[in-house]
Amino acid sequence: MSVRPIVPADHPALLALWRRTPGLQLRGEDDFDPFCAYLERNPRLSLLVELDGRIVASLLVGHDGRRGYLQHLAVDESCRGRGFARALLDEALAGLAGLGIDKSHVFVLRDAPQALAFWAAQADWEGRGDIQVYSTRRSSE
Ligand SMILES: CC(C)(COP(=O)(O)OP(=O)(O)OC[C@H]1O[C@@H](n2cnc3c(N)ncnc32)[C@H](O)[C@@H]1OP(=O)(O)O)[C@@H](O)C(=O)NCCC(=O)NCCS
Repeated sequence: MSVRPIVPADHPALLALWRRTPGLQLRGEDDFDPFCAYLERNPRLSLLVELDGRIVASLLVGHDGRRGYLQHLAVDESCRGRGFARALLDEALAGLAGLGIDKSHVFVLRDAPQALAFWAAQADWEGRGDIQVYSTRRSSE
């Protein structure tokens, strides 16, 4: 098993992993061009796990200069429970810390019980009851 930074050529395999992972929502930002722009903006921070040459886990990692943001944590169903998610998180947070980013957030859908259970089980992560997220999207018209 090896953890390495995601590169643009990984896009088809990652898209396939994300599509077969219930609980992950794909958006226009997951298309090839915005995916590459995200990687370029956050060099070497997003990570994947390879097992016998196959991509089996992913984590997109970015920051805004103050806080880190994690997305698309996914481990192939056949590879769960082997510490791959933990390995990705540890390396991602170390990468962010190397840039001076010591605090990170992840947004988890309320109707994703398995994901919520995962995050609740991570001793170094705290569920926030004091924050309500508001979002907006600029209309392209
Ligand atoms: C959630 C997910 C990423 C976990 O991946 P994983 O590789 O099986 O997790 P790990 O083996 O690294 O587990 C790390 C720790 O979390 C615990 N854990 C893993 N999945 C858990 C779950 N669903 N509920 C509670 N605890 C869980 C493990 O027991 C382990 O605990 P330990 O460190 O005390 O041994 C994986 O199940 C997945 O891809 N789910 C679907 C996508 C998803 O929901 N992603 C999260 C989006 S926010």
